[in-house]
Amino acid sequence: MTLREDLTAIKDQGLSDISLTNDLKKLNEIRVNLLGKKGPITSALRGIRDLPVEQRPEVGSYANEIRDALSTAIENKKQVLEDAALNEQLANEKIDVTLPADHTLQGQPHVIQQIIDQVVDLFLGMGYQILNGPEIEEDHYNFEMMNLPKDHPARDMQDTFYLSDDILMRTQTSPMQARTLETHNFEEGPLKMISPGVVYRRDTDDPTHSHQFHQIEGLVIDKNITMTDLKGTLLTMTHEIFGDKFDIRLRPSYFPFTEPSVEVDVTCFNCMGKGCDVCKHTGWIEVLGAGMVHPNVLNMAGVDPEVYGGFAFGIGPDRFAMLKYGVSDIRDFYLDDIRFLNQFSKRG
Ligand code: DAH
Repeated sequence: MTLREDLTAIKDQGLSDISLTNDLKKLNEIRVNLLGKKGPITSALRGIRDLPVEQRPEVGSYANEIRDALSTAIENKKQVLEDAALNEQLANEKIDVTLPADHTLQGQPHVIQQIIDQVVDLFLGMGYQILNGPEIEEDHYNFEMMNLPKDHPARDMQDTFYLSDDILMRTQTSPMQARTLETHNFEEGPLKMISPGVVYRRDTDDPTHSHQFHQIEGLVIDKNITMTDLKGTLLTMTHEIFGDKFDIRLRPSYFPFTEPSVEVDVTCFNCMGKGCDVCKHTGWIEVLGAGMVHPNVLNMAGVDPEVYGGFAFGIGPDRFAMLKYGVSDIRDFYLDDIRFLNQFSKRG
């Protein structure tokens, strides 16, 4: 066989192999075998130098022609196989947008957190700082700095979990008053803060009390703050949480850290003030404690009560939630029964 015939045979075999393969990997093997350094075309080209000089150009160009034809055939086939692979992938991954969507459960803040968020948002808008305090607190801040010395009888009402003689689970968010009074720089402006958080008390088997519940402390200290500022602030909050038809009244009360102290009542949600069983026929329901900050509290924290003064209040968001939604057992909030909690879904 002449070299030319050899080349023609290589071409025919090659084209047939290329057209028969349906696999990209095999196609690549064919390419390496045919056109690689050890392949038949390369060795045929090497054989040209053994031919008579006058035949060399013609056979040489024939060999090049065959190499080009084979590599074009390989490229074309490669394109065809790649297209086919892509089409197959697209067909397999087709999404049917008309199928019903998977149902995903969407969570929401707990109903008490919803109330806290609402109160926090309101006070943030009125320029208050929002502060978090420690739940494990020193007796010093929880009681003494709040004008409740060691032997004070009012400590009994807040009996709690002691971790040592001086460290306890805080019984109220009020210690945040002392902590912020100690650090606030009055030259930079008035002190306005609220501090939401969890507090702890010895549990009593009573549907309106829990060993762990929430409070939101409020404190405003500046020059010339009066009780009307307190009343206006609490009325604004009442309108925000309960609605514009609700009014408040202040009744004299006692807290060691305020003087004067008040108990704040809101219009009864059940009878709107007419008098019913829920409000014991008074038309009012007690919702929080407040008052003008006691000079001792200011003094102990290093603030001069002759110059500065203001008001404080303590909100119970658990109690707000009970009143707002007519829930009679506070413990329902903590049982995590999704059927109960879903009643307060914002999405209805
Ligand atoms: N800390 C009080 C309590 O737990 C609530 C309270 C009453 C807070 C009056 C205050 C206040 O800031 O002025 O019973």
